[in-house]
Amino acid sequence: MRYLFNRTISSIPASASLAINEKAKAMRAAGKDVITLAAGEPDFDTPDRARIAGIRAISEGHTHYTESRGIRPLREGIARTLREDRGIVCTADNILMAPGGKYAIYETVRTLIDPGEGQEVMILNPGWVSYAPIVSAAGGVPVGVELTFEENYHITRLALEKVVSPRTRLLIMNYPNNPTGCVLSREEAECIADFALDHELLILSDEVYSTIVYDGAESVSPASIARVADHVITVNGFSKCAAMTGWRLGYICAPREIVDMVQMLNQHTMSCLSEFAMEAALEALQCKDEMAAMVESYRRRRDFFVAGLNAIPGVTCHVPKGTFYAWAKIELDGKNSQEIADYLLEEAGVATVPGDAYGLGGTCCIRMSFATAESDLREALRRMDAAIRKINR
Ligand SMILES: Cc1ncc(COP(=O)(O)O)c(C=O)c1O
Repeated sequence: MRYLFNRTISSIPASASLAINEKAKAMRAAGKDVITLAAGEPDFDTPDRARIAGIRAISEGHTHYTESRGIRPLREGIARTLREDRGIVCTADNILMAPGGKYAIYETVRTLIDPGEGQEVMILNPGWVSYAPIVSAAGGVPVGVELTFEENYHITRLALEKVVSPRTRLLIMNYPNNPTGCVLSREEAECIADFALDHELLILSDEVYSTIVYDGAESVSPASIARVADHVITVNGFSKCAAMTGWRLGYICAPREIVDMVQMLNQHTMSCLSEFAMEAALEALQCKDEMAAMVESYRRRRDFFVAGLNAIPGVTCHVPKGTFYAWAKIELDGKNSQEIADYLLEEAGVATVPGDAYGLGGTCCIRMSFATAESDLREALRRMDAAIRKINR
């Protein structure tokens, strides 16, 4: 049988981080000792209180279909958190639950874009590897705004104006940023707000790492800027902040009209989230101390890991203000980021994600997660140092 597939879907490239993980797995199976820094999830378990709430909900039989938008107490709790912590004016009616931030982004883009009409979606790069495939899968055309390592990925009006066109509908951005660890400054948020208003664009602001910031840094929510708030869809979830990746709990916060329209797609494609998972999420909203302890642990690991990277000849790593990723530029005999990642895997037994996967600004960069056991981070540093010094003497 020769299967025929949707042309757009079958032309989406495989994920670079999955490819490196596969390679690392094969090396492990062959008996090689590999440390992986390529994963994108917290190394903590979900806080006990949230897990117990989920178990209690199952034992009480909360295992049926429920409201497609998400249970009201959870939407109310999320709206309160966004008002108090992110400065976003919203109520439960502005919240729509989705099975993960990833699906929330897909269904939002799918709802806002007319497939096949050449409608463009600007993506601030370096940007998460799934944005461009999500835009393509939704029938839009992804267009990268390439920010540069040398300027520590500072957003300028010039960079935005370079790629906007009459076909642009939406701008996708992510702060705190995966992979660079940059946060959105007040000045950059104002710049984005003016730009969106001048060009009548919507903004999709992915803030799934919003609570993982260090040294008192603030990453501004564009939706907290009153003059542009009705142009913004904020995406967030429980995966990263509350170590709940497997529960699949994401949401959008958006103007009511947008929520109602995305909700139509929600109803017909996924019905609803698990009620017991949403009850665990409701409890997780109360786990601020547990979440703060996770951030403090990431901070300690960030400090020695980034200092260790910068001590290796040819390696430059800006100190990340948020997320649990170190993003380093490596000068290594003219190798590109894929070749650097391959070299580190083969020579040092350390798996990292090649920066090219995140756009042009990732040239010669690699992403490493420091949500990794401290002993593994120290050993990875030792091995990378030795491998890189073989070339950069
Ligand atoms: C920037 C960014 N956005 C969204 C997601 C999606 O997370 P989830 O679907 O688990 O909520 C991820 C996960 O890696 C991410 O890094």
